[in-house]
Amino acid sequence: MRPSMSLIRSASRVARRTYSTESVPQRKVAVLGAGGGIGQPLALLMKLNPLVSHLSLYDIAGTPGVAADVSHINTRSEVKGYAGEEHLAAALEGCDVVIIPAGVPRKPGMTRDDLFNINAGIVKSLTTAIAKYCPHAIINMISNPVNSIVPIASEVLKKAGVYDEKKLFGVTTLDVVRAKTFYAGKAGVPVAEVNVPVVGGHAGVTILPLFSQATPKANLSNDYIEALTKRTQDGGTEVVEAKAGKGSATLSMAYAGALFADACLKGLNGVPDVVECSFVQSSITELPFFASKVRLGKNGVEEVLDLGPLSDYEKEGLEKLKPELKSSIEKGIKFANQS
Ligand code: NAD
Ligand code: LMR
Repeated sequence: MRPSMSLIRSASRVARRTYSTESVPQRKVAVLGAGGGIGQPLALLMKLNPLVSHLSLYDIAGTPGVAADVSHINTRSEVKGYAGEEHLAAALEGCDVVIIPAGVPRKPGMTRDDLFNINAGIVKSLTTAIAKYCPHAIINMISNPVNSIVPIASEVLKKAGVYDEKKLFGVTTLDVVRAKTFYAGKAGVPVAEVNVPVVGGHAGVTILPLFSQATPKANLSNDYIEALTKRTQDGGTEVVEAKAGKGSATLSMAYAGALFADACLKGLNGVPDVVECSFVQSSITELPFFASKVRLGKNGVEEVLDLGPLSDYEKEGLEKLKPELKSSIEKGIKFANQS
């Protein structure tokens, strides 16, 4: 049997087994932007997740088709599709986790920040609705530019009086997924065993993989480490260019988004020692938001872990990323408070 088929069959076996176990809590998960390039495969992967009991698929258009399609898969969750703003309340009510890949993707030659003008408004209105209809939900922000979008959401939630810094996450898992893949290739170690923290933010030099902490250890030269760092930082651009105008990473992002949402659900369900990197409110540097390893628990963030020992190259990278990350955060905060 091909590995992908065996994975899907075992996921659905686990789903059936888990469904009959009454101790697994009911969890409603919404995907906002579910009709898009990321949204559709993410909907599929969340449908395969046995921790989800209700899957709510929302977009401005096209979701009934995606929902009807995904709903035929014989796994635990009940699927509902919602199209159009008038259905947003129903899509969100009772949600435990809301995943947001709504917004426009890059084309070649654009930076993530070039998406700000369109995506900031989209995320602001979706977060306003979350504040109203499911204020206690965990939010997984995928829309770019993540470095500004998360601060926007925090301000919107603060204004609504429902901000809980433990529940707002910028999804940076794709950077970790890439760092693991690229490291395994160069180090010649099994990719499934690799761990690499990626810290900072989610754009260019703000993406800082900490290969000095990578396991299994490998004796890579400084040139290799620099090349791996650059490839991880430019991973999104590599896909944007290869897609040549047809968008950015969707399939690998759906995989990464599903991994991160699964970690949040495990944390909510009380599974111990769930640790993932994410862009969160933070005091481990002087910046108010920063991606680092985060321990997830019943209330979202349980602990923001510090950076650990850095190589000289990583220390330099950390200082280099701060001005850009600071200005992206400030841009988001300013937008939320002006508009
Ligand atoms: P896409 O254009 O294929 O899909 C976006 C979807 O959002 C569309 O279906 C659209 O109808 C929907 N949408 C637009 N406005 C909406 C609204 N107000 N409410 C609900 N849905 C709305 O784009 P994509 O490839 O899926 O990418 C989505 C976003 O994710 C982009 O901003 C992209 O840059 C970002 N992204 C982030 C990462 C990451 O690592 N965090 C990785 C890849 C892509
Ligand atoms: C990525 O890292 O793939 C995403 O942020 C999409 C992009 O624009 O690069």
